[in-house]
Amino acid sequence: MKILAFGASNSSTSINKALAGYAASLVDGANVEVLDLNDFELPMFSEDREKEIGQPKLAQNFLAKIQCADAIVVSFAEHNGTYSVAFKNIFDWASRITRDVYQSKPVVFLATSPGPGGAQNVLKVATESARFFAADVKGSLSIPSFYDNFDMESQQLSDQGLQQALQNTVNTLTN
Ligand SMILES: Cc1cc2nc3c(=O)[nH]c(=O)nc-3n(C[C@H](O)[C@H](O)[C@H](O)COP(=O)(O)O)c2cc1C
Repeated sequence: MKILAFGASNSSTSINKALAGYAASLVDGANVEVLDLNDFELPMFSEDREKEIGQPKLAQNFLAKIQCADAIVVSFAEHNGTYSVAFKNIFDWASRITRDVYQSKPVVFLATSPGPGGAQNVLKVATESARFFAADVKGSLSIPSFYDNFDMESQQLSDQGLQQALQNTVNTLTN
């Protein structure tokens, strides 16, 4: 099973990228590709800019990556209660090529932050709007207080309850 994983963040030390990659690796028999949104950086979307440059190759590439995957794991960074600019920008560009950005693929949506809220606000935004973008959301999970619950050295969750919850969530991709 080919799984595309990415953190919806452009931070070079993204905790969501780490979580997405780790979560995808828990899927039995997974062949995981972890995307870095920095490889999809485009000018800030505007309709004027779109008239000038049309459908950028990087947005087409982003959609092609999704198309090639059997399943997708996204972990959302929360900036002021919603998406990071980096994710919103590539998503907006891609959505102008096709509104079915997720192309009916099975997806798991995750979110984490250093605080106890665990980026639940952005997770709610993403989950509630998923159907408009042809995402087949199989499961979602917020991981609170990332640095207390994830061992950066071994790159895995240290909290057993959260580990089980994450395993159950990613298992929905193969059930
Ligand atoms: C502009 C900005 C706004 C933020 N707003 C929130 C927020 O609303 N909720 C939250 O839990 N964390 C917030 N944070 C902290 C992020 O959760 C933290 O930077 C986290 O590491 C982002 O995920 P990432 O490492 O995957 O980029 C914010 C950070 C920035 C830079």
